[in-house]
Amino acid sequence: MSQRRDHWSSNAGLVLAATGSAIGLGNLWKFPFITWENNGGAFVLVYLICIAAVGLPIMMAELLIGRRSQKSAVGALKEAVASKWPGGRWLGGVVGFWGVLAGFILLSYYTVIAGWSLFYFVKTMGWTFGGYPAGMSAGDLFTGQALNTGLQLLLSLGFSVATIAIVYFGVSKGIERIARIFLPILFGILLLMLVSALSMSGAGEALAHIFRPNFAELERGAVLEALGHSFFTLSLGMGAMITYGSYISRKHSVVKASGAIVALDTLIALIATVVMFSVIFSVAGMRDEVGGSTVGMLFISLPELFYSEVPFGVVLGPLFYVLVALAALTSTISLLEVVSAYLIDQRGITRKKATTGAGAAIFLFTTFAVLSIPGLLGVSTEGFFSGIEIFAGKVGWFATADHFVSNWMLPTGGFFITLAAGWFMTRESTRGELADGSEPRWFHYGAWRFFIRWVAPIAVAAIIVFVIRGTDFS
Ligand code: PHE
Repeated sequence: MSQRRDHWSSNAGLVLAATGSAIGLGNLWKFPFITWENNGGAFVLVYLICIAAVGLPIMMAELLIGRRSQKSAVGALKEAVASKWPGGRWLGGVVGFWGVLAGFILLSYYTVIAGWSLFYFVKTMGWTFGGYPAGMSAGDLFTGQALNTGLQLLLSLGFSVATIAIVYFGVSKGIERIARIFLPILFGILLLMLVSALSMSGAGEALAHIFRPNFAELERGAVLEALGHSFFTLSLGMGAMITYGSYISRKHSVVKASGAIVALDTLIALIATVVMFSVIFSVAGMRDEVGGSTVGMLFISLPELFYSEVPFGVVLGPLFYVLVALAALTSTISLLEVVSAYLIDQRGITRKKATTGAGAAIFLFTTFAVLSIPGLLGVSTEGFFSGIEIFAGKVGWFATADHFVSNWMLPTGGFFITLAAGWFMTRESTRGELADGSEPRWFHYGAWRFFIRWVAPIAVAAIIVFVIRGTDFS
């Protein structure tokens, strides 16, 4: 029937590729700014709890569902549900398709922010050779480029083409190779930035803001946002990890891989946030510049650090933004891979046609995201795309899509994945995948099963109900 399935060449290959999917703009761009908007402390704590109690068990569930069936999201979920309920294949199909749709929408706006990193790469390169402009308003620079529609279309088009080109060549040749090279470098640079940031005057205040919980500051919607983000940042709830899991061969441990992916992802997000907050609390005027458009925090607060604090910052600046682009790229390829793998496995379309066709269709929606940037930045709510407000405070197509995908689609998808792994698959089959003798010592199958059957689904359902009953849908 089908060709031989491509596999990761080694365990490290999978960990790197899946970590590459997990680590992305969610860690570097989104987590810091939503932490800022939700007043740090308590939000971060809720987020960490979600990662440990919901994210980690679901990570194992997705990888095992993929590895067991050796199929991508839709096919794998059909099989998982059918193991105890043969008539329920359709439900698995629906959930899988829901994930494919989430990937489609997510990719459409994700590419836009990825484009910003390309712009900043070129900019910082200019500063490295021409000097950092004295008295520059980082906030104005950011808004200026973001509102330049032509530029935005060009940047996101460039990024889309790069994504399509890699997925076109398939899993081990494209995806694994890229992640292998750039992840270690990204980690190194971030550590260097952390050291510099911690020596700045506002570091203490930054740490307190991030790690000292103040529950009075926690809003109802923030709990959903923390949950939604734990799915977003780990690439869960939409079948990306199922799809990557389907390329794991029998030799490799799902548990070890999950532990490593979750730990690395969380670490990177926290480091990035500490770095950014330290700059904001240390540099005079930075708070106001960032305040205007928190979505641009990554691009507003860091240039200052490179050009004044970090040793060799002038060299590291451009390098850092290339790494941001690469981090985004290893995530966009996993998103496109989900959509393409669906077309390839379920619809029998060739990889080449699937990747280019899906990529082009998604790009159409990317243009909508670009057209909605004024609404996103709150500069103007004129025009169809910038003016939509379905969820309170989320203005424009971009913000609406982001809110809907991360806070609603991914958690609901994740909810059904817990049911598939915890209730529909047999104990023997999940045990066979997780506890196959290769698992690490800390792993306890009974504990995982308890989390996946009870803790994760109940927590997700409870948070969703809690937010819906709070009348506001935001
Ligand atoms: N996890 C990625 C990030 O944090 C985003 C992503 C979500 C990628 C879902 C794939 C699937 O940037």
